[in-house]
Amino acid sequence: MQLTISTVVLSVLFASSLVSAAPLQARHKNTKGKKMMTNASSLQLNQAAGAAYFLTNEPSGSFVVAAAIGKDGQLTLAQATSTNGAGSHGQPGDGPDALFSQGSVKASANGQIVAAVNSGSDTISVFSIDPQNPTNLEMIGTPVGSGGQFPMSLAINDAGNMVCALNGGEVNGVACFSVDKTQGTVTPVANTVRSLNLNQTTPATGPAGSASHVIFSEDGSKLIASVKGVPPTPGIFAVWDIAQDGSLSQDFQAIQPATGGLLPFSMTVIPGKNAVFATDAGIGADILDLNAQPNNGVASGRSTVLNITGQGATCWSSFSNKTGNFYVTDIGTSEVTEVSLDDNLKPSIVKQYPQGNGVATIDNDIATVNGNDFMFVLAPNATEVKVLSLVAPGNAQALQTVDIAGPAKAAGLTVSAGHLQGMTAFIKP
Ligand SMILES: *[C@@H]1O[C@H](CO)[C@@H](O)[C@H](O)[C@H]1NC(C)=O
Ligand SMILES: *[C@@H]1O[C@H](CO)[C@@H](O)[C@H](O)[C@H]1NC(C)=O
Ligand SMILES: *[C@@H]1O[C@H](CO)[C@@H](O)[C@H](O)[C@H]1NC(C)=O
Ligand SMILES: *[C@@H]1O[C@H](CO)[C@@H](O)[C@H](O)[C@H]1NC(C)=O
Ligand SMILES: *[C@@H]1O[C@H](CO)[C@@H](O)[C@H](O)[C@H]1NC(C)=O
Repeated sequence: MQLTISTVVLSVLFASSLVSAAPLQARHKNTKGKKMMTNASSLQLNQAAGAAYFLTNEPSGSFVVAAAIGKDGQLTLAQATSTNGAGSHGQPGDGPDALFSQGSVKASANGQIVAAVNSGSDTISVFSIDPQNPTNLEMIGTPVGSGGQFPMSLAINDAGNMVCALNGGEVNGVACFSVDKTQGTVTPVANTVRSLNLNQTTPATGPAGSASHVIFSEDGSKLIASVKGVPPTPGIFAVWDIAQDGSLSQDFQAIQPATGGLLPFSMTVIPGKNAVFATDAGIGADILDLNAQPNNGVASGRSTVLNITGQGATCWSSFSNKTGNFYVTDIGTSEVTEVSLDDNLKPSIVKQYPQGNGVATIDNDIATVNGNDFMFVLAPNATEVKVLSLVAPGNAQALQTVDIAGPAKAAGLTVSAGHLQGMTAFIKP
């Protein structure tokens, strides 16, 4: 606490004494493992409301790219931090969405940490977020073995001290890690390495039949991994129980999506409903009602599917607390679709927002800044991030298009359409 307060005081003093004193210097001095992408001073970056993070996921060495989130919701690419690990690309092909996943990089506001997968090194890297300047990351310890191969998605518990990885390669399944910021350690949690028994390869083969995303249930009692089907066989949601000591049940419960569901992809908790909103690359979206026991292995109760007519592959999702709606992205149509659920979890399409032909909208996240919600969408085929202002239900407005390629080139950072992946936001408490 004391440290935080004195840092605040110092930065305020700094701001008042120095801000007008000198013009901004070009700051493309790259220290080891860090690449500066902005001329903004650290004083200016200290004014940020938070940060958004995504991964370069390059086989030659992956970086977490951090953009400052301004008080107006706009992004400023600020710095890239090496994960000390390698990215990779699933097979076949070399197009966008290398990992067939959501959650390859994940921030926790409560833990003030960011975790990232190194899909080509079979490790994960966990960073401490600088509470003053959240674009500034410091690795906690060293990268740790992911407990399998081709790690591609991460979940962080509510307390922000346990990270679970989803491995999608030949050795697949989940594995969890305890994060101790004071000790500076990331250590495997006993009895959490659990197989999905997928017949897979390293790197993973997909998208059909590949793992997708891992999340904690809202009450923290379950760990859920989604797996795409191999048409015509639907995929599953694999559900493990989490014990008091953090260990996972030996076996998972396999739940198929409701009839019509095929390729479960991202999962977003439906607040207060013990249910999950999942995208489904085969139809649009699946609603998974965890209150109901599956009927012959198929989700039941209020579980259902949403047919998004004309969809290509709807794969990524997030929830806006302000509008109360879900926002999904489609890599095929490059559209954002806003979906509302009624009290009975029945979904309907509110509105669709085209983001530009062929930009390939993938990972996204939503953050609340001063009571306003903003959506950050990675558009790797244009090496851009699209920022939308979620003004009201049915009213999402284009706010900003952020170029990644130019600042990356200036900073000597390798980025490519086929490798960029992930999006997660952190807002200062
Ligand atoms: C930083 O300043 C230099 C020199 O003025 C300029 O060439 C460069 O484009 C600036 N970079 C950014 C990211 O604004
Ligand atoms: C695993 O997948 C490969 C490639 O599709 C296939 O040849 C093999 O028979 C599968 N093995 C099992 C046990 O299903
Ligand atoms: C979704 O709806 C469209 C239009 O009604 C229909 O052509 C398509 O077959 C439906 N898709 C599925 C998977 O049911
Ligand atoms: C969501 O909005 C409600 C009402 O405005 C607020 O009380 C709550 O803290 C918000 N939750 C989050 C996670 O921002
Ligand atoms: C990415 O861009 C290339 C070249 O313009 C295009 O051929 C391809 O279809 C695009 N991919 C996606 C997923 O939009």
